[in-house]
Amino acid sequence: MEGDRQHPAPAAPPTEHLQLLLRRSREAKSCAYCPYSRFPVGAALLTASGEIFSGCNVENACYSLGVCAERTAIQKAISEGHTSFRAMAIASDMGDTFVVPCGACRQVMREFGTDWDVYLTKADGSYIVKRLEELLPLSFGPEDLKKV
Ligand code: THU
Repeated sequence: MEGDRQHPAPAAPPTEHLQLLLRRSREAKSCAYCPYSRFPVGAALLTASGEIFSGCNVENACYSLGVCAERTAIQKAISEGHTSFRAMAIASDMGDTFVVPCGACRQVMREFGTDWDVYLTKADGSYIVKRLEELLPLSFGPEDLKKV
């Protein structure tokens, strides 16, 4: 099972990769389908091989079926054969607040390792970076299933 593999600690993305990643998250936000919340979010995921997969939130008239931008990006990457990630950038329109991933997205991210970086941005482009381990401490993951 892919999730059982060890994920080596990734190096932080080089500056040009990071700038592109941040831009791709903003661009993805412009595709958000969020007629109910009117809260557009974009995410861009950098794979270990240097490719970027982006995603937006996709809502539904049946509200509970809405999907966050982060999980859209992850599902796109996984379904194209990428399971090792270096970083994700997330963008929203919030002016004063760094956007943070919801708990469900943190758990889905964690499936693919605890040692990669998540860039939380504000609308002005400023950011802070957190390791997945910081966003979801004491997490449950694929390794735990081997312990019984
Ligand atoms: N949303 C995301 O896509 N990512 C986040 O990090 C926070 C929330 C979406 C879900 C929903 O479509 C809208 O934002 C309001 O919660």
